[in-house]
Amino acid sequence: MIKMVKIFIDDKQLEVEEGLTILQAAEQAGIDIPHLCYHPAFPPEGSCRLCLVEIEGIPELELSCSTKVREGMKIQTKSQKVIEARQGVLEFLLAEHPLDCPFCDKAGECKLQDYYEEYGLFDSQFDEYKEKRDKKVKIGKNLILDRERCILCTRCVRFLREVTKTQELGVFKRGIKSEIGIYNGFPVNNNYSGNLAEICPVGAITDLDFRFKTRSWFLEKGNSICPLCSRGCNIQIEYHPGLGRFALPQRVYRVKARQNMKVNSFWICDKGRYGYSYLDKNRTSKLVRPNINQKQDINWDEVLDYLTAKLKSLYFMNKTSQVALVLNSWLSNEELFLARKIFNEDLKVTNIFFADLPDEEGDGFLLTSERSPNKRGAKEIGWAYVPFTLEALAENEINCLLIFGSFFEQLLNPAQLKSALGSIETKILLSSHRPELESAFDLILPTAVIAEKEGSLTNTEGLVQGFSPALPPWGESRAEWKILIELAKRLDINFAFYRRLSSPELIYQEMAEEIPFFRKEK
Ligand code: SF4
Ligand code: SF4
Ligand code: FES
Repeated sequence: MIKMVKIFIDDKQLEVEEGLTILQAAEQAGIDIPHLCYHPAFPPEGSCRLCLVEIEGIPELELSCSTKVREGMKIQTKSQKVIEARQGVLEFLLAEHPLDCPFCDKAGECKLQDYYEEYGLFDSQFDEYKEKRDKKVKIGKNLILDRERCILCTRCVRFLREVTKTQELGVFKRGIKSEIGIYNGFPVNNNYSGNLAEICPVGAITDLDFRFKTRSWFLEKGNSICPLCSRGCNIQIEYHPGLGRFALPQRVYRVKARQNMKVNSFWICDKGRYGYSYLDKNRTSKLVRPNINQKQDINWDEVLDYLTAKLKSLYFMNKTSQVALVLNSWLSNEELFLARKIFNEDLKVTNIFFADLPDEEGDGFLLTSERSPNKRGAKEIGWAYVPFTLEALAENEINCLLIFGSFFEQLLNPAQLKSALGSIETKILLSSHRPELESAFDLILPTAVIAEKEGSLTNTEGLVQGFSPALPPWGESRAEWKILIELAKRLDINFAFYRRLSSPELIYQEMAEEIPFFRKEK
């Protein structure tokens, strides 16, 4: 049983769990105690001395990151004595810190900068020269260390010791010469190296992928789920909303880890962190008919009417055996459920296949071998995972082919694929990315990526996680669930069912009614 203790922080009475530190108890109560070396993922280190607090009955100030709460403890976090001590600690740290803020990547999100501002240390009493140290040491494939900015908090060392257990970094030398370094030419090249730039509380470790590209305060932030494997790590996507007259080279500038103790704790792998170029590159932005040389644009209504007419005529002629549908596991639970209802149950289409990126090796920590986020969801929805092959098309005399996603191109021989598509009357692609074989399709419908839409995914362990749009939609692209609902209503085979399903939330409720697996909280 959890034992609670009564404490007072800044005269506020609190009941907190026994065993917590003062810093943790204060955080839970929404009271901010400045700290730099403490990180909730590691045991306290007690090196920065910034988290000092006053405890009644104890003459010296104590470290709140490593002092546990005791029954009746009375703590002051903002007394004059504490503030003066904090100012002293900050002044001490800043005595050896360069004035790099105007061009430091961490500016705008640096704790040292924030505390300096908060504690008003605007007049330097420092006459001595600052120690000169190395400004640009490459310590990993994507990491640059600036030793002048380092405050020796050892968060980086502890991450590599306790999380990846690879121990590439250590503190070398003694006293004022102490510095962070790599051991004998073994740089930080593990699959989680990017987390170091994120947990370094100052701009000492910067990320080559982000370095000097933009300023943090220009970036908008949106929460999402990483789709690059089936772990479902929680991420924050940072994108630039644009600068009016100037075109920017990219929209998304950075992906960071978002804390979820059930999935990824505080971390993400480098594949998820640096593999974001798919969000901006090679996207389909418009509805296109690749083989029709015409100036006039088409719109979504025309496209959906055309698709509906084609499917309806095959349905009424009892010829939906000539339809083939190719799905993928980047589709959300809701979209895979709708696809089952519309194609399998309403239209009686049986030629349904999956085309996903091929599996690769996992790393035994977060990265799984599956390179799609929702294979487990597809399974729970009842899809028999039949891989898409050219033989399947030939055997079934397909007349109308609908493909979701462009992953099929990585699985099949391009020349054979082109010739197989050539013999099919209607070929429609719904994809967020432009295929190499663009001209082999009659119609290409631009779709949203997970970061631009709403829905849920089921990770490899069966955890269902909801997500909302983190980025604005790309061009004319639409979420697949919206396209499917529109199509279902136009087909009018089961209108009453689809009429109510105006959001992923409502689709999920319907899915949970039918499939017990989804009767759990997202
Ligand atoms: S490099 Fe950053 S995380 Fe590592 S000790 Fe220095 S300040 Fe701390
Ligand atoms: S482990 Fe998987 S889900 Fe997590 S960040 Fe890496 S690729 Fe993305
Ligand atoms: S946070 Fe307590 S000493 Fe650094």
